[in-house]
Amino acid sequence: MKKLAVFVSGGGTNLQAIIDAVAAQTLTNVEIAAVFSSSRKAYALERAAKARIPSFCYVPKEYENNDLFTEAILEKLKELNIDLIALAGYMVVLSPKIVREFQNRVINIHPSLIPAFCGKGNYGIHVHENALARGVKLAGATTHLIDDGTDTGPIVMQKAIPVLDDDTPETLQKRVMAECEHIILPQTIQLMADERLSVEGHRVRIIDNTR
Ligand code: GAR
Repeated sequence: MKKLAVFVSGGGTNLQAIIDAVAAQTLTNVEIAAVFSSSRKAYALERAAKARIPSFCYVPKEYENNDLFTEAILEKLKELNIDLIALAGYMVVLSPKIVREFQNRVINIHPSLIPAFCGKGNYGIHVHENALARGVKLAGATTHLIDDGTDTGPIVMQKAIPVLDDDTPETLQKRVMAECEHIILPQTIQLMADERLSVEGHRVRIIDNTR
């Protein structure tokens, strides 16, 4: 059983999708051991409490510098013996030190088909504003492993849906969350928990363990 920490900053619908998948046993071999929030006001904290998952707040501006912030998080991750990290709407760039310690064990969900609409400034609703402004016909979500860049790590899964003529950023965001993010994030965590990812450069292959 792998111990998972879920990092959040806001509403926590992706956290909820993971909680629901574990409860429904469609996601197995994983225990959600902790929720780490970058905000004390995140609704995700209520979701964690309701599911009786311990939560911890590490708010960047409450620390003198980024090194102290990083050390505090690392210490707690080690104390809890965390194996895997899922960034689920986490709006803070994870320090390279944590990325190094958890190499190929940190997954992020991004609300676009990377390499479109990713990187600096492309987060949350802005991704969908930019996608509609550019007039794309397909939207979607991507799970990727974390490296030292922003949204540049090896892609694990992607799921696409059509953009509708009357979509607004809000309607598109809602469908991408429900029809893409909340499906591929638990599926990706399952692959990580079962150690089925083989990473070569930027290419990730899923190991078939049924043979
Ligand atoms: C989700 O759409 C997630 O993909 C996005 O923020 C939202 C958080 O929603 N993440 C990013 O934009 C990261 N670059 P949630 O708190 O309801 O899961």
